[in-house]
Amino acid sequence: MTTILAGDGHPALAHAVAGLCGATLAPLLVGAFADGETRVRIEEDLAGEDVYIVQPTGAPTNDRLLNLALIADAATGAGAARVTAIAPYFGYARQDVRKRPGEPRSARLAGRLLSEAGVDRLVVVELHSPALESAFDMPLLHLDADAALMPAVRAWNLDRLTVVSPDAGGMKRAQRYAGALEAPLAAIAKTRPSEDADVALAVDVLGDIRGRNCLIVDDMTSTGRTIAESARALREAGAEAVHALFVHAVIATGALARIHDAGVRRMLTTDTVRTIDDPRVEVVSVAPLLAQAITRLSTGSS
Ligand code: R5P
Repeated sequence: MTTILAGDGHPALAHAVAGLCGATLAPLLVGAFADGETRVRIEEDLAGEDVYIVQPTGAPTNDRLLNLALIADAATGAGAARVTAIAPYFGYARQDVRKRPGEPRSARLAGRLLSEAGVDRLVVVELHSPALESAFDMPLLHLDADAALMPAVRAWNLDRLTVVSPDAGGMKRAQRYAGALEAPLAAIAKTRPSEDADVALAVDVLGDIRGRNCLIVDDMTSTGRTIAESARALREAGAEAVHALFVHAVIATGALARIHDAGVRRMLTTDTVRTIDDPRVEVVSVAPLLAQAITRLSTGSS
């Protein structure tokens, strides 16, 4: 039997996924003891069950990650035959390597925590870097969100479209979109002026985007600076209009306003982290993508 546990990270997404793949949602309590420690309780025997825990590990990242580990441990203790963690947004994914001495490899450590807690397999959507795939010592299903996002972009009917990667790391993703949308590709040369990773600066537009409808494609937006500063650079370089697509709406306070104020005409994202309710952003759900993944994993099909 396929059972889904809705973690505290995104219950609405877990419910949507369960509805789409016809799996049972087992009753799960995630609360807090008086001293602030997390209290988890699965109110059902999971003996022999194929269990899927839906829990993105976005902010508050440490709580969501540890709660996922606690739920996995509880599921194992309740007799689950196999535990799969579905973390459509995987926090700490940007900290995949030691960029400077003295820094942790946070993504690797997060993966080890989950294995130790009893997670047998991990399902994620668009990790920050494909190189991170090797950081997990358990089977990983790494999905891209193209099937969810592409129809929405197509529905915009943008003519004279150019797809733009806001940095070198996003080139492969942007290339994929450019190919599917039969549009040329441009890029932004982005440098970070300080050691603070939350400060980005778009310095140069690579490619001719004069008179074009530019679609910035990024894996996530956090402070919104990467997209906002890319948009400014594109407009200064003569773009007709700038639109933005980001898979994960990590969005720190003020991010959407920053992007909007930079003249970005349309924004498109998914509900991997949370469901945003903001008239400036169009949101498509990854629930069908995740439901399909669960169906395939539980039946063993490819
Ligand atoms: C960076 O390499 C990522 O792909 C994103 O561009 C970045 O994390 C976005 O962050 P922010 O919105 O804070 O500029």
